[in-house]
Amino acid sequence: MELGECTRNPGYQDSDGTASAADTNTTVPEEKEDSTSVKLEQHPAEGEYMQFKPYAGMPKEVLLQYSSQARYRVTREIVFWLTVACTLALVAVTIAVIAMSPRCMGWWQTTPVYQVYPRSFYDSDGDGVGDLKGIQQKLDHFQYLNIKAVWISPFYRSPMKDFGYDVEDFRDIDPLFGTMKDFEELLAEMHSRDLKLIMDFIPNHTSDRHRWFNLSRIRDPHYKDYYVWTDCNASFPKPNNWVSIFGNSSWTYDEVRGQCYLHQFLKEQPDLNFRNPDVRQEIVDLIHFWLGKGVDGFRMDAVKHLLEAQHLRDEPQVDPNQPPETVTTEWDLHSDYTTSQVGLHDLLREWRAVIDTYSREPGRYRFMVTESYDYDEVWKTMMYYSTPLVKESDFPFNFYLLDLPQNTSGLWAQHLVHLWMGNMPKGKWANWVVGNHDRSRIASSAGQAYTRVINMLLLTLPGTPTTYYGEEIGMENINITESQVQDPAGKYNKSLSRDPERSPMQWSGDMNAGFNIKTNITWLPVHPNYESVNVEVQKEDEGSVLAQYRFLNTLRQSELSFQRGWFCYVHADANVFSYLRELDGLDRAFLIVLNFGKESVITDLSSVLELPDQMTVLMSTNRANNGKVFKKSQIMTEVGEGLVIQYSTGTRYNPNHPNQCYISEKACYMKVMDILYKC
Ligand code: GLC
Ligand code: MG
Repeated sequence: MELGECTRNPGYQDSDGTASAADTNTTVPEEKEDSTSVKLEQHPAEGEYMQFKPYAGMPKEVLLQYSSQARYRVTREIVFWLTVACTLALVAVTIAVIAMSPRCMGWWQTTPVYQVYPRSFYDSDGDGVGDLKGIQQKLDHFQYLNIKAVWISPFYRSPMKDFGYDVEDFRDIDPLFGTMKDFEELLAEMHSRDLKLIMDFIPNHTSDRHRWFNLSRIRDPHYKDYYVWTDCNASFPKPNNWVSIFGNSSWTYDEVRGQCYLHQFLKEQPDLNFRNPDVRQEIVDLIHFWLGKGVDGFRMDAVKHLLEAQHLRDEPQVDPNQPPETVTTEWDLHSDYTTSQVGLHDLLREWRAVIDTYSREPGRYRFMVTESYDYDEVWKTMMYYSTPLVKESDFPFNFYLLDLPQNTSGLWAQHLVHLWMGNMPKGKWANWVVGNHDRSRIASSAGQAYTRVINMLLLTLPGTPTTYYGEEIGMENINITESQVQDPAGKYNKSLSRDPERSPMQWSGDMNAGFNIKTNITWLPVHPNYESVNVEVQKEDEGSVLAQYRFLNTLRQSELSFQRGWFCYVHADANVFSYLRELDGLDRAFLIVLNFGKESVITDLSSVLELPDQMTVLMSTNRANNGKVFKKSQIMTEVGEGLVIQYSTGTRYNPNHPNQCYISEKACYMKVMDILYKC
């Protein structure tokens, strides 16, 4: 076949120079009767140009003529509009998915917060006091427990009158605990293990050895108003009736300045004057300093004391008939002028805003928790959650469970839990504290019999659990003799001593419970029960407090119902407190039955129609009862026993019992696509 016969180019220019129909200068093709011409205006059905097909290498003009034929134009338009429609659909789906997805949970929501009291955790250098290197050497412990956030009580340079809560230099580490290099290494190592470090931050006061105080007492022009000073009588230095949290007047006369200064805690802890903008700036600078080092958050100490009324009037006595000279403790007065003053929340919101500027980096959310004991004035505590539009604490510490031992019963437990759940602003995140360095250990105050059930409560409630070191093994208070008292609060009144709950961590049955394996000194005595109550022994025992803590924590982190599901009250009586955790769309749910009472009981939950008739115990605090099958009308618990019962149901409890159920952010589970969505 000769080239040109079949594939003749209709626009081909003959060698004789005669221009074809598609001559570049010809925009409108000349209509010829010649069979080789291109009849573009003709309908294909008319036949003639059907013999001409598009071909490779057509000049643009020819191509355009072809492309404007209906069959090409229509197809092209269909494809174009399809593409537009698909793109829009994709954008719409993306927006819908983003809008429907529940918020990812923060690291501070998915893990318990573990409190380390650094003096007592692990002593790496053998001086009898725990240190930063010691914490670093024990990081495996957190990983073993599946804990990812650690709050370390203060380790700033301090004369240790209040064991670090009296800070001499906020930018330095006390040599007892190590060096700044040790801190940086600890933080780097924690981050490399995906552990977060929460600093204790003490804004209300400094040590009386702080440079600012020294300059203030000599009336240095810049520092003279850094603290709260007032004229007073040197021989009766009580400008008003205000008392310190540690007892007696909160005023001390300073010989150097010839005035009295305020201290809501020890006289060695003068209160900063937050009405002075320079003081506020100093605190902001310190927040920047530590965030710049990379810490993951702050526990803000004693915040309700930040401001005091400027008028310095006497506070009203609780008992107006009490002789004023016998007013010596915080319980004798209504602390109307020394706590929770107007302006307090502005300070915290300002700090929060600074903290948030460091949270913008992905995965580097910085957290803030506030410490304020407001006792029965729950609404005051709830103020720290702030409003939906202005951020403050991620959560204020919830200390109500510290009162569990007062009256162990199911109803009391429910009452304490409800104090928080019933008062927390909608959509906020709960948290639970059962022990800390200021309060008796729960195993001592409630009794060992209840240690496990309390840990079960802590780890199955909605919100962030807080665990004071040693609670994961059920450590108890130590007994302290008069001569052993270390805590300044205990020196004022032995019964107020916080030493009993600060004894060295019990790691093993070795010397000093493995806390200091180098020398035979410990700053406080080790509890005599350390040979049986220690981490090493409990790791070997599947029924130990430690094993149960670890199991429950892992369960909590792996089950959506525990992490972000509904929390519904089911039953409470003199012995038992029972609730369930469920998530809409998920068939797997959990019933928790906790016996806080004084007797073994059978609980009848047959009126709870959403529960199946028979259920199997996933975990009991009494290991022998694991796997036991109960009829829902006969759920048996012993004193101090807690049960986690896993069951399967297609009927959720929360829709029919809205007044008994709580949730922070509602999410549902879609089985078909295996996703969570807002609902
Ligand atoms: C907080 C601390 C406590 C300390 C006090 C004064 O309440 O938890 O230990 O003594 O503040 O700083
Ligand atoms: Mg103050």
